[in-house]
Amino acid sequence: MKNKLNKIAKDTNLFLKRFINKQNNSELIPSMVYSLFPGGKKIRSKILIDIGSFFSIDYKTLVTIGSAVECIHAYTLIHDDLPCMDDDRIRRGKLSTHIKFGESTAILAGNSLQTMACEILASPSLKVSEKIKINLIRKLSECSGHLGVAGGQYLDLSYEKKKISKNKIIEMEIKKRNIKEIKFFEKIGGNIGLLFQIADDLIDIKGNSKLAGKKTGKDQKKGKATLINLLGHQNAIKYCDKIIFDINKSLKKYGTNSKNIEESLNYILNRER
Ligand code: IPE
Ligand code: IPE
Ligand code: MG
Ligand code: MG
Ligand code: MG
Repeated sequence: MKNKLNKIAKDTNLFLKRFINKQNNSELIPSMVYSLFPGGKKIRSKILIDIGSFFSIDYKTLVTIGSAVECIHAYTLIHDDLPCMDDDRIRRGKLSTHIKFGESTAILAGNSLQTMACEILASPSLKVSEKIKINLIRKLSECSGHLGVAGGQYLDLSYEKKKISKNKIIEMEIKKRNIKEIKFFEKIGGNIGLLFQIADDLIDIKGNSKLAGKKTGKDQKKGKATLINLLGHQNAIKYCDKIIFDINKSLKKYGTNSKNIEESLNYILNRER
């Protein structure tokens, strides 16, 4: 699994470096590059590749789409760390973008990464039909905006220090990690997102900040509404096991191909960063 992730990370970064190098230079490039590289685990690309293999979609195409998703992800992390949001100084084992470059630059770098995601999907580098491109851009926009990540982030902040029901927390966490694909996979994507966010919340509680590359123990202090807070540690893990069991069951029909996604799900729950 680690080797596969490393290869995907290498290929994604290579694509993004080439894409950025083809653009005209600007004052914002250094902060964008700082936020993208070396970057994180690239688990979203791995899931895209796992699911894409069910449909025999070409690896390069999936890496290109994954690169667009990574731009959105990097933008959300830059903004998530801002003083008006989670106010965190360390991200991916180095200074957060706003600490390094200042707040206004960080906001603009985030905005630029978000629009770069759409540029990537619309570019000739992505070798799919125009109809598919439009669908991809539509889905990615839906998942990033007020009905997806931005909406989830709003709820995350407005639920701080409040007593929130289980269903509301689940709804928020799915939005925060909305990586939904097409029809049947929308539900699975939502559940993987939920699993991912609960695992992130577990890392926040018992994880090692050196390994995680970011501060831990911050959710409790901020009074974040998480399932662990509500259900307790053991029950939250049981809940994750059930999510994994259900996803694996619904993907069984894809035969041996579904082994890849099984491996990714176990990694997501048991990772240290
Ligand atoms: C971290 O996401 C923030 C959340 C969405 C919970 P990742 O854990 O995927 O971060 P990187 O990309 O590997 O740094
Ligand atoms: C981030 O969630 C979710 C986003 C959509 C950016 P967290 O706030 O829990 O992520 P970390 O723990 O700071 O990485
Ligand atoms: Mg946050
Ligand atoms: Mg945060
Ligand atoms: Mg977190």
